[in-house]
Amino acid sequence: MAKSARWILAATIGLLASIGVGASAAHYLQEPYNPGFLNFPTIVALHVVLGGVYLALAPFQFVRRIRSRHLDYHRWAGRMLVSLGLVIGLSALFIALVIPKGGWPERVVIGLFGSLFLFALIKGFLNVRAGRVALHREWMIRAFAVGLAIATARLIFFPALLITMADPTEKRFGTLLVVSLGVAFVVHAGVAELWIRFARRSGALRAKRAKLKAKGVKAE
Ligand code: HEM
Repeated sequence: MAKSARWILAATIGLLASIGVGASAAHYLQEPYNPGFLNFPTIVALHVVLGGVYLALAPFQFVRRIRSRHLDYHRWAGRMLVSLGLVIGLSALFIALVIPKGGWPERVVIGLFGSLFLFALIKGFLNVRAGRVALHREWMIRAFAVGLAIATARLIFFPALLITMADPTEKRFGTLLVVSLGVAFVVHAGVAELWIRFARRSGALRAKRAKLKAKGVKAE
């Protein structure tokens, strides 16, 4: 069960990360839907391009085999990803506060989840510096789950746009964008918490089995 759940999760993450990277590339292939992007091209470029790099590399940080065999790579990439993440999160807050397509609801939703993304990254970094590896892993899962939600938001937004609005007004477009982002963030944060609890339980079980094995007792 644990193994098949891991495979499903890995395949889903791979798919969503590819969609996120595709969204970064697509940003430069079309007219911006938010005219405000044109006023701050550097900040938007930093957000979009570094976001794509983050989603392309971050999934490998969770692969146990890579961590155990290439710890130096994990550390080097981790430091780089935390730095990128800080720029991505801060630029997301800037975009949402200064040029939000979705007005005040976007300011609130992104203010909340952008801050959570930054907070989780910083907690993840501080925990590993303090040698608390399990907590480091959990906070990095939370940060990654929020970042990856931008791909799920697109999977919600585009079909919803097609179904509900043949010719959307600017306001409706913005509202749909914020609803899609909000739903995706909540779902991702929820799945991340479930996964963290599931991993804690199976980790505790593994430790119990190893203890029994060391004592020469056969586990049930
Ligand atoms: C980590 C990977 C991320 C990637 C690849 C990414 C990608 C993008 C792209 C491509 C856009 C431009 C929209 C478009 O042209 O389709 C965008 C806009 C935006 N992103 Fe991100 N992003 C990421 C993380 C985040 C995070 C963590 C947040 C905040 C929680 C965030 C908030 C926003 C906001 C507020 C906008 C502008 C929405 C508007 O037009 O009002 N992004 N992002």
